[in-house]
Amino acid sequence: MRITVLGTGYVGLVSGACLAELGHQVICLDVQQEKIDLLNQGIMPIYEPGLDELVHRNAAANRLSFTSSYKEAIPGAELISIAVGTPSAEDGSVDMQFLEAASLGIGQHLSEYAVIADKSTVPVGTAERVEEIIRSTSNIQCDVVSNPEFLREGHAVFDFLKPARIVIGSASSLATERMLRAYEHVDCPKIIMDRRSAELTKYAANAFLAIKISFINEISSLAEELGADITHVAKGIGSDPRIGKDFLQAGIGWGGSCFPKDVRAIRHMAKKLDISLPIVNAAHETNIQTRRRIVDRIEKSLGGLNGKNITLLGLAFKGNTDDTRESAAVDLVRFLLERGANVRAHDPVAKVKAHEIGGYELEHVDCPYEASRGADAVIVATEWEQFRTLDLKRLKEMAAGDLLVDARNLYDSARAKGHGWRHLSVGRA
Ligand code: UGA
Repeated sequence: MRITVLGTGYVGLVSGACLAELGHQVICLDVQQEKIDLLNQGIMPIYEPGLDELVHRNAAANRLSFTSSYKEAIPGAELISIAVGTPSAEDGSVDMQFLEAASLGIGQHLSEYAVIADKSTVPVGTAERVEEIIRSTSNIQCDVVSNPEFLREGHAVFDFLKPARIVIGSASSLATERMLRAYEHVDCPKIIMDRRSAELTKYAANAFLAIKISFINEISSLAEELGADITHVAKGIGSDPRIGKDFLQAGIGWGGSCFPKDVRAIRHMAKKLDISLPIVNAAHETNIQTRRRIVDRIEKSLGGLNGKNITLLGLAFKGNTDDTRESAAVDLVRFLLERGANVRAHDPVAKVKAHEIGGYELEHVDCPYEASRGADAVIVATEWEQFRTLDLKRLKEMAAGDLLVDARNLYDSARAKGHGWRHLSVGRA
């Protein structure tokens, strides 16, 4: 099938490369010429495991190409997937400017019947809006469907090719049939529904997962005071299939480019309809509290933060990504600076710019051990796989103090203590 994917961010680029891998003829379109130039030179604009290889293989097989021209990408496409950014606006609503521009561009260049699939996370009712924009500029027949993505950064290639489900919200049997054909080689349940339900499914999924994490973080603060161990509690409840074991990892709260933005958007949607969402609101509050709580505990353990040297291991909002958007680790840097600490950091790939942390020029050190030299406390803030196997003895020799803050519960307490650390973890006394 001839497919055009609009937008070469995480979702667009991964979707385009994976659709090519499934055998389709794919053009990725992005209005940012610099991104297209990089991709045409074989350079990935983002870090995502496995993506590089997939792009190179499919580009070499002439199944995948990149352009910034609507004229090149739209005419003749049977399926046009929209995967442009839908960031938060100031008031928490969704900024639709990129999606509207994309719809306009499609309408102006459509040459024959096409299915337009919206992959971006958008407010309920957007499929109708996209259809309206396209119809205002084109007489060519088309159908707009909602096809929300559930890709996790860092696992996006796997999630695309081996998803738990594919959701298709459609108002036309012709469009549904085409969508099913596009995904015929993906082995998973395909759930067909109306477009508004599909759009709401995406928000409901992210809000539910955010609530689940906030819930375990609440129980975690209780465990700290009661002398229980949250990892045991999580296992104890997660083994009940009605609850499920995933997303019960206590830590410093959820961040990233999706949960915070989508929770804001669903709250905004509800507010406009005068509907209250107390559970979703509370998940947001708990998420802020969780970050503050760990900084309070560190301050107490060190007897104050003013003038203390703190090393952060991890800046990305989770492991396997260079993304620091709304990262809990970056919030920790901010809070530590506010309380007078000197902070330096190591992350395998992520970097934080001064303007993101109030103008502070954060020192990024390439080696985790070197980064910990002279530190009063070392905080492991991101669940990078390589941090699990850090040599805690060597780390202790480099540090000046003995406080190891295990904000993602990566280490066994006895092992950490065996190397001379005071081990401050989450959800344990
Ligand atoms: C999330 C969803 O998991 C995807 O299904 C969805 O497609 C995506 O948003 C999106 O809307 O595009 P992602 O933002 O990549 O994916 O990250 P997650 O792996 O879900 O993690 C989100 C945050 O929750 C991270 O800060 C992570 O550290 C935290 N987390 C996750 C926990 O603190 N505990 C857990 O048990 C799981």
